Amino acid sequence: MNVLGIETSCDETGVAVYSTEKGLIADALHSQVDLHAVYGGVVPEIASRDHIRCLLPLVEQVLGDAGIEKPDAIAYTAGPGLVGALMVGSGMANGLGLSWGCPVIPVHHMEGHLLAPMLEDEAPEYPFLALLVSGGHSMLISVSGLGEYGVLGTTLDDAVGEAFDKTAKLLGLGYPGGPALAALAEEGNDDAFALPRPMLNRPGYDFSFSGLKTAVMLEVRKTQDDDSYESRRADLAASFQRAAVDTLVGRTLQAARKEKLERVVIAGGVGANKLLRSEMAARFDGRVYYPRMAFCTDNGAMIAVAGALRLADAQSAGEIRAQARWSLNTLGPPERKVAGD
Ligand code: KG4
Ligand code: ZN
Repeated sequence: MNVLGIETSCDETGVAVYSTEKGLIADALHSQVDLHAVYGGVVPEIASRDHIRCLLPLVEQVLGDAGIEKPDAIAYTAGPGLVGALMVGSGMANGLGLSWGCPVIPVHHMEGHLLAPMLEDEAPEYPFLALLVSGGHSMLISVSGLGEYGVLGTTLDDAVGEAFDKTAKLLGLGYPGGPALAALAEEGNDDAFALPRPMLNRPGYDFSFSGLKTAVMLEVRKTQDDDSYESRRADLAASFQRAAVDTLVGRTLQAARKEKLERVVIAGGVGANKLLRSEMAARFDGRVYYPRMAFCTDNGAMIAVAGALRLADAQSAGEIRAQARWSLNTLGPPERKVAGD
């Protein structure tokens, strides 16, 4: 079975084909970063319009690369995300499904991130602990099987990717801020500023990142008029990154120990952070899994593989699903439904 995956939840148009026999056979991505950079963040209307412009040519390109005329099923991101952007992918998936006579599989974007490591040769076995960290989410999830997700902790305010982006803005860096801040941090000293490690001493597994962002803001205000500010900026970036990573790794270790989980999966855009990867590997006794860098941030391959694992949920094309909000808790394992039910 060849599953076409379509991702349009935010500012990346991602399309891929995953074969249940051969694995990933084609993958393409169009990033809208340049379009949004001038505004300092994602502009939803521009995102929707660019998905409309790019999606069909990308589908044609990927089918050509895969050497197939049409897939056996189409998986698409049905939420959570920007509703206009989701509508484009959902409309396209359902339209193509109707014209090709093949079923569609609505995929939860965060389940896509969570299953992205399954694209790698050394995929994790269940059960595992997942640290899902992106621009919209920071979650610790106990995963006992496909769709069997126990959310142990989540963020009480900003998601960690959002905190990276906002802090980068404070430091005068461009959008998207995460990679820019990580690059600047490499030039700085990470213990130059004593920043808080929010929540680490509290019970439970929730996160909070807005206090850390505010602490950076106060330091910027104190030092931005000094001659030394230019070099202090790198120290601030490094100190922020170290505090955020310490918090994520500390919480993950607490949860893994308590839940007796020996495998940890790191997924989502912030999973591309090199310090997070190296610290988790150094401090966790068990095994750490992550997708390759390109599949940490949004992409079509993770949606195609999630669709292939959820073939049992395939349904007749025609219902355009696009949910801005959708809790991962509501998913459950795949159901054996007959297409058309
Ligand atoms: O998963 P993703 O592509 O989109 C969402 O579903 O949100 O994640 C994007 C987030 C952004 O906040 C971006 O700044 C962050 O991931 N990010 C990083 C890095 N690369 C991307 N944060 C820290 N370090 C990075 N290297
Ligand atoms: Zn994402």
